[in-house]
Amino acid sequence: MKALISAVLCFLRLSACNLAYALQLVADPYPDKPRITFKPDGTFKITVFSDMHWGENPWDVWGPQQDANSTRLMKTVLPSEKPDFVVLNGDLITGENAFKDNATFLIDRIVAPLNAARIPFSSTQGNHDNQKNITHLQEILREQTVAPLSYTRVAPAGVGGEEGPGNYWVPVYEKTTDSTPTLILWFFDSRGGFTYGDNSTATAAMNAAWGPAENRGALAFVHIPPHLIQNLQATLNSTKEPGLNADALGSGSTQSTTDEADVGQDDAFWNSLNANVKNLHAVISGHDHGNEWCIREPTKNVIFCFDKHAGYGGYGDASWGYGVRNLLFSSADPTVGVQTWIRLEEGEVRANITLGAQYS
Ligand SMILES: *[C@@H]1O[C@H](CO)[C@@H](O)[C@H](O)[C@H]1NC(C)=O
Ligand SMILES: *[C@@H]1O[C@H](CO)[C@@H](O)[C@H](O)[C@H]1NC(C)=O
Ligand SMILES: *[C@@H]1O[C@H](CO)[C@@H](O)[C@H](O)[C@H]1NC(C)=O
Ligand SMILES: *[C@@H]1O[C@H](CO)[C@@H](O)[C@H](O)[C@H]1NC(C)=O
Ligand SMILES: *[C@@H]1O[C@H](CO)[C@@H](O)[C@H](O)[C@H]1NC(C)=O
Ligand SMILES: *[C@@H]1O[C@H](CO)[C@@H](O)[C@H](O)[C@H]1NC(C)=O
Repeated sequence: MKALISAVLCFLRLSACNLAYALQLVADPYPDKPRITFKPDGTFKITVFSDMHWGENPWDVWGPQQDANSTRLMKTVLPSEKPDFVVLNGDLITGENAFKDNATFLIDRIVAPLNAARIPFSSTQGNHDNQKNITHLQEILREQTVAPLSYTRVAPAGVGGEEGPGNYWVPVYEKTTDSTPTLILWFFDSRGGFTYGDNSTATAAMNAAWGPAENRGALAFVHIPPHLIQNLQATLNSTKEPGLNADALGSGSTQSTTDEADVGQDDAFWNSLNANVKNLHAVISGHDHGNEWCIREPTKNVIFCFDKHAGYGGYGDASWGYGVRNLLFSSADPTVGVQTWIRLEEGEVRANITLGAQYS
């Protein structure tokens, strides 16, 4: 208990705690799991499954059929893409249809293809993962229990707050023996309507442990796009910014846009992320199933990308197709651009671009 309190204090306020303990927390968040590393050929590939929306209408024929289709999609994509790491970017479950007694069984089914393929992964949670009979925390704890290669973690108490516990990072090393990571994957919990608690000093502890932020690259995953993305849709040029653009963004499509009083509530998140994390290749969201594009957000000069709707559950249109976003690092150098593209279940590749200074 004492260690836990000390860990929480450390995470929140570096000055209020034992520095060595904070560094240990940051430097080795997964003492019992294999380190995530680049391949010996210097590449690293991530495949993102987003908005799977498991568990719709289990009492009807079509609900379980959707889930069977989503499993088929995963079993088709995983052996053909052979990712080094997988991200499940929110709305794993349509919580509105979940039953208290068995909601978390759905997690077992979602992770089964990843367990079978022995691929490390982690998840974010979305607005549909927090409902009457399911919470983000329940999903995370179940995933940790049934998936040995899940890197999903719960933030220390106070960070993210009630109903929003899924804030964490996964360090990626070039080689297992390296003392510092070359890439940080950030995961943020985008529950609706949160207010900020105390500020986290995780990035300060990283800088103390690993040196300046500029030494590392980063990618950030969050289920719901920042609100600044909404107005950029009107500026899209499908030649420069390719990818399906079938979902008009409106109230609730991005963070803090459900009502007037909400607007700007995600500014603290957006400011902090962009001030403290360097070499941020992109911020990646799901939530709006008909969009696949990437665009530069001019106030922070950072690229934002939509995922691809991967689940047969959730709203959609058969013509949009189902698939994944892939991200391919060709080098562990954090300043080298990252290739990213949409791949449909049937194999079609589209919106293949390089995330870098030249884009958008
Ligand atoms: C959960 O329980 C409901 C109601 O009994 C049932 O229809 C559904 O198939 C169950 N789901 C799972 C994942 O076991
Ligand atoms: C399942 O996938 C098949 C093949 O793509 C499709 O024809 C069918 O409509 C899908 N069923 C559901 C319920 O999504
Ligand atoms: C929650 O689960 C209970 C029993 O497991 C069920 O009766 C109820 O309908 C569920 N609530 C919703 C909103 O689905
Ligand atoms: C958190 O950071 C913001 C922005 O820098 C600042 O305005 C706020 O006072 C800080 N909150 C706490 C509790 O330190
Ligand atoms: C869209 O981008 C292309 C390629 O840069 C450019 O040639 C074209 O003029 C742009 N279209 C508009 C409407 O700006
Ligand atoms: C994406 O484009 C790059 C550069 O043209 C090319 O080398 C790569 O093979 C393409 N990727 C896919 C999956 O088609």
